[in-house]
Amino acid sequence: MYRGFPLYATMALAALLISGCTPAVVAKTDTTSGTSTTLGGDKEAGKLVFTNNCSTCHGPTGAEGGAVGPALKNENQRMDFAAVDSWIKDPAPPMPKLYPQFLSGKQVRDVAAYVESL
Ligand code: HEC
Repeated sequence: MYRGFPLYATMALAALLISGCTPAVVAKTDTTSGTSTTLGGDKEAGKLVFTNNCSTCHGPTGAEGGAVGPALKNENQRMDFAAVDSWIKDPAPPMPKLYPQFLSGKQVRDVAAYVESL
């Protein structure tokens, strides 16, 4: 009379274990998006950031240089993305420190990606 119960219990337990063992869907983070060299920096967006914040010193596109700031053409041969990113975040005078007051971390990454493309 009770012979069926253990079997039912075993199956219920098995079903529970199986469902419990289904791998959870791991949410993707955006930390790995973009290329490893620019850490997701968007050079197209960075171009606008450059025009608005950097061109007065470094020239209209940055490649030619301005009265105050040096030309940034081939900057990628002097500094890699990470170095440009940290330089913009903490530059030496007379270059102004625009981060974090005027530029977000994302804007700095974008403009760094733009500078690296010159
Ligand atoms: C007030 C003028 C000024 C502004 C605005 C300015 N810079 Fe500069 N920047 C300079 C000067 C001057 C130097 C050279 C400093 C030195 O070599 O010690 C420099 C150096 C740099 C360098 C390093 C160049 C090298 O020697 O390899 C980078 C990269 C750079 N600037 C990017 C930017 C970006 C991007 C912005 C905008 C977010 C910006 N700068 C805004 C004046 C400016």
